[in-house]
Amino acid sequence: MKILVTGGLGFIGSHTVVELQNEGFDVVIADDLSNSSINVLDGITAITGKKPEFEQIDLRDKKAVQDFFKKHDNVSGVIHFAASKAVGESVENPLLYYENNIGVLVYLLQELQKKEESYFIFSSSCTVYGQAEKMPITEDAPVQAAMSPYGNTKQIGEEIIRDTAGVTGINAILLRYFNPVGAHASAHIGELPIGVPQNLVPFITQTAIGLREQLSVFGDDYPTPDGTCIRDYIHVVDLAKAHVTALKRLIEKKNKEKVEVFNLGTGKGNSVLEVINTFEKVSGKKLNYKIVDRRAGDITEAYADTRKANDVLGWKAELALDDALSSAWKWEQKIRNK
Ligand code: WQD
Repeated sequence: MKILVTGGLGFIGSHTVVELQNEGFDVVIADDLSNSSINVLDGITAITGKKPEFEQIDLRDKKAVQDFFKKHDNVSGVIHFAASKAVGESVENPLLYYENNIGVLVYLLQELQKKEESYFIFSSSCTVYGQAEKMPITEDAPVQAAMSPYGNTKQIGEEIIRDTAGVTGINAILLRYFNPVGAHASAHIGELPIGVPQNLVPFITQTAIGLREQLSVFGDDYPTPDGTCIRDYIHVVDLAKAHVTALKRLIEKKNKEKVEVFNLGTGKGNSVLEVINTFEKVSGKKLNYKIVDRRAGDITEAYADTRKANDVLGWKAELALDDALSSAWKWEQKIRNK
């Protein structure tokens, strides 16, 4: 059985390819290299000793998707990462997000629905909850009106999958990520943000290595213990392993419904200042940062209720924030040859 990983040269995708290969799966990657580098293929191979098949393909091209599935007709599982994911950019350029994040999903599902039976793992996000009322956040917390076109594409994507799985041989699991951080312990693969990082951890490591002058902390006047926002930072390797567990659940027909949803987090919330302090501890570096105004669209607090993932999916995050930050730092030093 061959597994297609779309966006498999990206941050979470590449770590998931490693874990799939570790579990003996035969992997083909489809990536357009718009937000990743072909060198990641060597990184994956350096870790597993097996070079995955790779096709550079623009999945927004329906014919190209059809041709791909004709060529790789033994693909029966898809883990779909390929999507645009910058919240701010999605506000400025919504149609790019609807074309890429919704159009591509439709083309992939149109190919899978031709098969007797298939498996689809969807990269969703805790963004669908907006600012949830209750902490920790369970899977049945209400999906709130999206705060950005990016978040909306995740909500719409989930609905498209539900509507489709109900009337086809597609079985799906929606994985709602909290905040993915860190890098593979080998430092052969990690996060490669293009341009100025939007996310906290890559901005921290780039500041520590001297690429950025200073980290801006977006607000310390939130209703939290130290005034900065709280998030659930999950190690990308733990997150990758959850995808393999979810895929095996579908293959082994352990799923209770055609579409299941799981929150993927550590179940622990950390504030921005706690992340900074932890980074300083694990790296031995003093971080240059200043408190500035809040960033529009940020929510105060989000961390996962992990009971369903632990008890039903049978997956639990094993790596702590210290591990994530030290691996992110090791990766930053490696790619800057420092
Ligand atoms: C975390 C915290 C910021 C940068 C986003 C997307 C979400 C998902 C993960 C795709 C916040 C603060 C950040 C900085 C800061 N992406 N921060 N200075 O916003 O929780 O989630 O990425 O699925 O959909 O919304 O992550 O890393 O941007 O921010 O103070 O330079 O760090 O205010 O409190 P976020 P983040």
